[in-house]
Amino acid sequence: MGLGSVRQTVLVTGAAGFIGSHLVDRLLAEGYEVVGLDNLMTGDLTNLDNARREPHFHLQIGDVREPLPVYAEIIFNMACPASPVHYQADPYATVTTSALGAIRLVEHARRRRCRVVHASTSEVYGDPLMHPQREEYWGNVNCAGERACYDEGKRVAETILMDERRTQGADVRIVRIFNTYGPRMAFNDGRVVSNFLTQVLENKPITLYGDGQQTRSFCFVSDLVEGLFRAATVDEFDPPINLGNPTECTVADLAQVVMRVSGQKVDLIRQPLPADDPKKRCPDISKAKKYLGFEPKVRLEDGIRKTFDDFKARLARRKPSAPTQGKP
Ligand SMILES: NC(=O)c1ccc[n+]([C@@H]2O[C@H](COP(=O)([O-])OP(=O)(O)OC[C@H]3O[C@@H](n4cnc5c(N)ncnc54)[C@H](O)[C@@H]3O)[C@@H](O)[C@H]2O)c1
Repeated sequence: MGLGSVRQTVLVTGAAGFIGSHLVDRLLAEGYEVVGLDNLMTGDLTNLDNARREPHFHLQIGDVREPLPVYAEIIFNMACPASPVHYQADPYATVTTSALGAIRLVEHARRRRCRVVHASTSEVYGDPLMHPQREEYWGNVNCAGERACYDEGKRVAETILMDERRTQGADVRIVRIFNTYGPRMAFNDGRVVSNFLTQVLENKPITLYGDGQQTRSFCFVSDLVEGLFRAATVDEFDPPINLGNPTECTVADLAQVVMRVSGQKVDLIRQPLPADDPKKRCPDISKAKKYLGFEPKVRLEDGIRKTFDDFKARLARRKPSAPTQGKP
């Protein structure tokens, strides 16, 4: 599709979230008219401070489970709490946001013939028995477990959207996002990158779950946003497509990177692995390379440095100022 002489309107659901807000900034820079929808379940309006100064950005506080309030040529569906602490805090909200949200998208796309880019997740693979994960792999998910509200919600959203593509010819583009990190991540999302960064910044020991040898593949947010943007603008798309960084890193190695970047040495303490925590996660991105020309560029250490600087600045702003001398 691409940007023609008239500005296209793009709706981003979950716009006040970590990834959604970076996507909004990118779309504004590309010259789109952008509507951001968010119910602020986990989002933070300060993530949209830059966007809200732009005349081509329009914020709507609202819920993706309700009929969508605007016409847009492209919809990015990013709405959904993404980290276990957030999505397990209100499992009903999580599963309905994915399932009902997908139904609303389908209804909207059917009436308006718009393009839908849907943020799915590597969690559809569950605790994978195949490594690295290719899109053909069906996954290993516990449908009655604590993570099911998220994993199964995302799986049924894929089902709803893929059926719409098959039966109605809807222009649906599903991307399965793998672990993404960067500035604006919530401090309290319980994810390994934010945990380690807040721990070193507060000079506390770093917590390693299990033996720390479980692997993750961390994608910096600007690389991920590039993939999302390409997903919306290429002519040919064969859903679903994995988006992430295939470079694997153990959690123990990540702790070393965080300490190196921060210039601080702290103790490591060990805790048992949480329930259903995957031991290995790594995307096979051959399909993303083929259809999107996607290749992550940001090295882990560089991305962690940018994220560390952002966390440091935000934590400093959050700290209560010292009491002024002489005042009661
Ligand atoms: N961050 C990752 O590593 C990662 C990995 C895989 C998939 N994803 C997917 O990417 C998307 C964005 O993730 P994120 O990390 O930015 O999470 P986030 O929690 O920062 O952002 C999600 C946003 O959606 C909003 N939201 C939640 N429920 C809503 C509803 N019913 N209606 C409207 N808005 C709602 C939240 O308030 C928040 O602003 C999610 O769909 C997530 O599943 C993220």
